[in-house]
Amino acid sequence: MTDRYAVFGNPISHSKSPRIHAEFARQTGQDLGYEAIEAPLDDFRASVLRFREAGGRGANVTVPFKEQAFLLATQRSERADAAGAVNTLKFEDGEILGDNTDGAGLVNDLVANLKFDPAGRRILLLGAGGAARGVGLPLMERQPAELFVANRTAYKARELSARFDCYGGGFEALEGRQFDLVINATAASLAGDLPPMPDDIFAPGALAYDMMYGRDTPFLAFARERGVRTADGLGMLVEQAAEAFYVWRGVRPQTAPVIAMLREAR
Ligand code: ATR
Repeated sequence: MTDRYAVFGNPISHSKSPRIHAEFARQTGQDLGYEAIEAPLDDFRASVLRFREAGGRGANVTVPFKEQAFLLATQRSERADAAGAVNTLKFEDGEILGDNTDGAGLVNDLVANLKFDPAGRRILLLGAGGAARGVGLPLMERQPAELFVANRTAYKARELSARFDCYGGGFEALEGRQFDLVINATAASLAGDLPPMPDDIFAPGALAYDMMYGRDTPFLAFARERGVRTADGLGMLVEQAAEAFYVWRGVRPQTAPVIAMLREAR
């Protein structure tokens, strides 16, 4: 029988996850189906439990339900605990296992696809919301020279950086500093805004990474104008999906052809 998986979000119609997982399944010969389910904003828990009741084996969870998924899980991985959010659920033996593959997705995209090794590099993480929270620990595990969290609301950056055992503060703390990797995990791009960074924030040879995908952003334009290499979040999206696929199926799909396919489809 075909095993069922799904992604829960609201809204969800734009999700590329069904395409990505269909491609992974085809590639690895796994017999599974994957659908997108729009859970009502006040009915996430019941929606997931209904899906499990109907034979669902696992699920991805996206905005705005990752914190609720964290609470729904009966067991959690260390990386889910560190993030305080869950993007992958696995239903097994009456338990709901909660995991978070976002950070691994970012790190795999950096290392495998972009050939950027965080070890010994100075990393700046912009933002202190849900998107930033998922990636701090996996980045720290790669032993950068430094991870600094900067946020518009400075106390949130300090709170988050304390969780990751690194430094953090407001954007004004960036004055006179340079970084080898700058990751935009703010929601500024959604509003067409640029996080307020100093003009010379990028060290020579730096990489500018926007977690957003599917459109050019003021952040990426700012980097390009300074001759800096850029990357959007499409690779991270496919890599976090591959990591979830591995959690469910114990098989690692190839990501590069899927990233290429999605870029071509634009
Ligand atoms: P997400 O889950 O996508 O991270 P979130 O939890 O609402 O969303 O967090 C949004 C992040 O983007 C926050 O770090 C927010 O900064 P504040 O904590 O000061 O609100 C940041 N953000 C949103 N709009 C921004 C803007 N125009 N410039 C800079 N930072 C912005």
